[in-house]
Amino acid sequence: MKKVSIALLGCGTVGKGVIDLLAMNGPLIEEQLDTEITIKRVLIRDMPKYEQMELPDDILLTTDFADIVNDDEIEIVVEVMGSADFAKDCIEQCFKKGKSVVSANKDLIADYGMPLLKMAKECNVDFQFEASVAGGIPIVRPMYSSLNSNTMEEIIGIMNGTTNYILSNMTDTGMSYETALKEAQEKGYAEADPTNDVSGYDAGRKIAILATLGFHSALTFNDVSVEGIENIAQEDIQHAREMGYVIKLLAIARQDGDGISLNVHPAFIRKGHPLANVGGAYNAVYVRGNCVGDVMFYGQGAGSLPTASAVVSDVMNVILHCNINITGSRDFVWHDPKLKPQDSI
Ligand code: NAP
Ligand code: HSE
Repeated sequence: MKKVSIALLGCGTVGKGVIDLLAMNGPLIEEQLDTEITIKRVLIRDMPKYEQMELPDDILLTTDFADIVNDDEIEIVVEVMGSADFAKDCIEQCFKKGKSVVSANKDLIADYGMPLLKMAKECNVDFQFEASVAGGIPIVRPMYSSLNSNTMEEIIGIMNGTTNYILSNMTDTGMSYETALKEAQEKGYAEADPTNDVSGYDAGRKIAILATLGFHSALTFNDVSVEGIENIAQEDIQHAREMGYVIKLLAIARQDGDGISLNVHPAFIRKGHPLANVGGAYNAVYVRGNCVGDVMFYGQGAGSLPTASAVVSDVMNVILHCNINITGSRDFVWHDPKLKPQDSI
């Protein structure tokens, strides 16, 4: 059996999920790949904190990225730290050293996904980021593979688990915004800075990533018009209910003539619509292609093991050499948003 050594950059909600998942499903994964995957090193920044965690004895903890990038045995690096600058620098150094990278970092990929994919190609390594959109739901890969025979018409969905958890609890249990946010943080759904969730930025980054892949166009977070849920109060929820609606935070990418509109905003959704029933930290994404019609993806959009599921399957794809191959060459004109926040679906 072959052996592949990997390293983790970060060991928080997602990193620990990767360790746990490999412990749970290691034999099944080895059987499929005829390859044993070993986590050799983990980058952290606070040694005493992580020495107290119950991590497998054979994992070497380090606070120095050089220990990882200069370790020739490590073939794949899993970036699960978050933020953009340091992570980008680490990933570029890995590529230069011939190491493939898997990342869950939408902040980074929404802004630098295309240049990083280009660099990975030049360095003859892989770069995969399934977990960067909608946690455990396989949605990134269908965009560049299973659905790529279609002309994309629309991508619309609930893509942030934290805000959906907050809005669902405010609707179903009358919970306050603050309590629901605190619970979402405790459950590991929220970003390190939850402002990214409630402001709609996180969903904005995810729709920029999906639209880049689906519309073959190099779009970034700056192209997205964003409104969050910070101003939604219990009385808005009640008002919606009286009219037969629920409020959800939607991310929408739409072909619009020769342009694309990219929006994130709270919207009234009529009860009975499938998106109205997406509760907790679940996400749902509708994709409309010109030949396939409507396809819906649904599942856990955040959390330790669901996200690790996407990360580890990316590691497996790197081992199997299933590369992302997109050009981002189509030059769409960006259009002002047509759908206004007050519109309902
Ligand atoms: P997290 O719980 O905050 O964990 C981040 C880890 O990275 C922590 O171990 C942190 O160390 C470490 N870290 C951060 N900066 C570092 C640095 N400069 N050097 C060394 N270690 C560093 O975050 P998470 O929820 O696991 O998320 C990780 C990534 O996955 C993010 O990009 C996030 O957007 C993405 N993601 C998360 C989810 C989810 O459900 N949580 C789902 C999909 C994607 P400290 O303990 O010292 O802070
Ligand atoms: N903070 C994100 C969310 C994690 O709540 O959806 C998954 O990307």
